Amino acid sequence: MSCSLQPVARAHRERIESLVRDTGLFHEAEVAIAGEMLDEALDGDDEYRFLGAFDAGQLVGYACWGPTPGTAGTYDLYWIAVERARQGGGVGTLLVNAVERTLSAAGGRLLVVETSSRPDYGPTRRFYERRGYAATATVPGYYAPGDDLVIYTKDLTAWR
Ligand SMILES: CC(C)(COP(=O)(O)OP(=O)(O)OC[C@H]1O[C@@H](n2cnc3c(N)ncnc32)[C@H](O)[C@@H]1OP(=O)(O)O)[C@@H](O)C(=O)NCCC(=O)NCCS
Repeated sequence: MSCSLQPVARAHRERIESLVRDTGLFHEAEVAIAGEMLDEALDGDDEYRFLGAFDAGQLVGYACWGPTPGTAGTYDLYWIAVERARQGGGVGTLLVNAVERTLSAAGGRLLVVETSSRPDYGPTRRFYERRGYAATATVPGYYAPGDDLVIYTKDLTAWR
């Protein structure tokens, strides 16, 4: 894997949307939100921060995170997605490690990820669990009947 990590620019907006859409996990409304979050970040809203993984100039994955309002040192990992054909190749790990390092160096304390209990999110939950995230809370029926919210957290102070 020969990816470099770089900022995401306006020119990558369509690519972000198609990448998120092609995972097959997100509704079209969520795809639109991914693009809108990039717009807000590029317009200077510090609530959303983006990092892209690029291979030969092509965006193959990205992460979006930001400070959780009203907390001391807690951050949300709002989104992470890797091009379908590249999943399982280490791109997601590269991105999440970079986010954790950046936040830890900036005094971040806790990283929170929200995901779904649905069976098609099984590989996603395994991804977090194998990277040291703990399933800290579940909200039954949050997304839909039988589709729970699973909240993962990672302590960012562990290696300080
Ligand atoms: C979850 C995701 C970001 C992980 O990125 P990735 O580049 O595929 O992950 P990596 O190659 O770095 O790590 C592979 C690990 O992730 C897990 N994984 C998750 N989805 C996977 C997939 N589609 N293919 C292979 N492995 C996957 C595996 O369990 C594997 O674990 P292991 O190597 O520790 O045994 C990526 O698969 C993805 O975009 N999935 C769809 C969108 C999504 O679920 N986003 C998170 C929303 S909350």
